[in-house]
Amino acid sequence: MTDSSATPAVRMTGIAKRFAAVQAVAQADLSVQPGEIHALCGENGAGKSTLMKILCGMNGCDDGRIEVHGQDVTGWSTARAIAAGVGMVHQHFMLVPTLTVAENVVLGREPLRHGLLDLEKAVADVEQLCKQTGLSVPARALVAELSVGQAQRVEILKVLHRGARVLLLDEPTAVLSPPEVVELWKVLRTLRGSGTTILLVTHKLDEVMELTDRITVMRQGRTVAVLQTPETTPEILAEAMVGREVDLRVQHAKRAGSRGDVVLQLRDLRVAGRRIAEAIRGISLDVRAGEILGIAGVEGNGQAELLEALTGLRPVLSGEISLNGKNINALTPRARGDAGLSHIPEDRHERGLILEFSVADNLVLGQQHHFGSKGLLDRRAIDAHAQAAIAAWDIRPPDPQAPVRTLSGGNQQKVVIAREMARDFSVLIAAQPTRGVDVGAIEFIHDRLRQARDAGKAVLLVSAELREILTLSDRIAVLYGGQLVAVLPRDACSEAILGGYMTGLGSTTEAA
Ligand SMILES: Nc1ncnc2c1ncn2[C@@H]1O[C@H](COP(=O)(O)OP(=O)(O)OP(=O)(O)O)[C@@H](O)[C@H]1O
Ligand SMILES: [Mg+2]
Repeated sequence: MTDSSATPAVRMTGIAKRFAAVQAVAQADLSVQPGEIHALCGENGAGKSTLMKILCGMNGCDDGRIEVHGQDVTGWSTARAIAAGVGMVHQHFMLVPTLTVAENVVLGREPLRHGLLDLEKAVADVEQLCKQTGLSVPARALVAELSVGQAQRVEILKVLHRGARVLLLDEPTAVLSPPEVVELWKVLRTLRGSGTTILLVTHKLDEVMELTDRITVMRQGRTVAVLQTPETTPEILAEAMVGREVDLRVQHAKRAGSRGDVVLQLRDLRVAGRRIAEAIRGISLDVRAGEILGIAGVEGNGQAELLEALTGLRPVLSGEISLNGKNINALTPRARGDAGLSHIPEDRHERGLILEFSVADNLVLGQQHHFGSKGLLDRRAIDAHAQAAIAAWDIRPPDPQAPVRTLSGGNQQKVVIAREMARDFSVLIAAQPTRGVDVGAIEFIHDRLRQARDAGKAVLLVSAELREILTLSDRIAVLYGGQLVAVLPRDACSEAILGGYMTGLGSTTEAA
């Protein structure tokens, strides 16, 4: 598959990059052979995204040498990188939502007719490219109307349309549902088969094991290991990443205490959809103090709308949401927070953070009114709060004044969780809580969620990862077509059983 004697498609040696006080990359080496799928792994903040950005010309480097297909390209620009066939698919999409798929794909390289965009040609080109690669997206649809998985395919098409032969993907599956992940793997394998070189960052060890040929591991800005995938195990890989042994076994820890009173109650809830008239079609559910209730389901079955309705971002059509016995249908998101509802949103950039604000300010977002009086903020209290959260959650770098924009993805996620779990709450809605965090931090976040449960909180967990649902939940509800098709005790569930309900094969509701 790969030829180790060939000139590497990418060779980076002795790369260093500093941002003010932070040495993001120090002495990193990376060598990728043509036509291989290569993973770049490492803890949150290890320098993976920075190294990728240096490779695609978005960031310069302070030291080191970069060669692409044997040619020295150190210090090049994104324009030159693209011209040389190196293209990056970003973790956070960079598409124009008001344009069509075809327009986005050809942006900057538009086919012209009488000096204007030739839309028919663009559509034809994009459809042709879709056929070649197996990436399927409706070329005439508006990007704003696409699902996350489709938007990602547009990003990939855009890079390929510019002639990329080296494709860089930064955590491409973090935002995808399991079937979309399977689709993406097919596409990447097809691309590899046609000679494209693929370098990807991911925290999911099973993906690395299944898909890649080789793995480069970074720790604290340095390359610490290069592994041949067939000769390694997830345990070896995890240990190389964090520098200690990691327990990767999936263990379901039963709750220590007993279930308490119902704290969150849904009664015949109906909610309008983003794209359809009714996305939640009559849901009733009781969530009790001292339990983690997991909601499983294939993305697009109403999860997004349910979360928005619960947190006050989307009005309900009918039915009732009660918190501690009080109807909260009409409360604003902030009032719900004060009433005891905490929320880890699924999209940290859209809903969870203000990127230009400091870590300290993001740690009190939505709760500023508790940190000061008469409209004046108590900076000392905010900073003390930040110091405590940074220490408790190992947020790096440990600087309350750093703009959140400068933190690595996983550390941004820790800021969101730290904020939502530090407040006084009785119900925590946790949507994709470990998205983008490394194996060590996943362990840590899972422990904290269990501790909250054991302290008598109710946790409503929504996750695209069945394994996470099975590891954490005491009861599991399956959302399918806007309805709960099953509510089962954890012990009655397995991946296969849940999978059946998730695809609409099983349809009985059993009391739990
Ligand atoms: N623009 C920037 N300004 C200041 N510091 C930065 C900037 N970009 C990255 N850093 C810092 O560089 C270090 C490496 O960050 P990077 O984003 O490369 O990590 P990562 O390995 O991709 O982590 P994750 O798995 O969490 O995405 C981090 O400490 C981060 O805070
Ligand atoms: Mg990153």
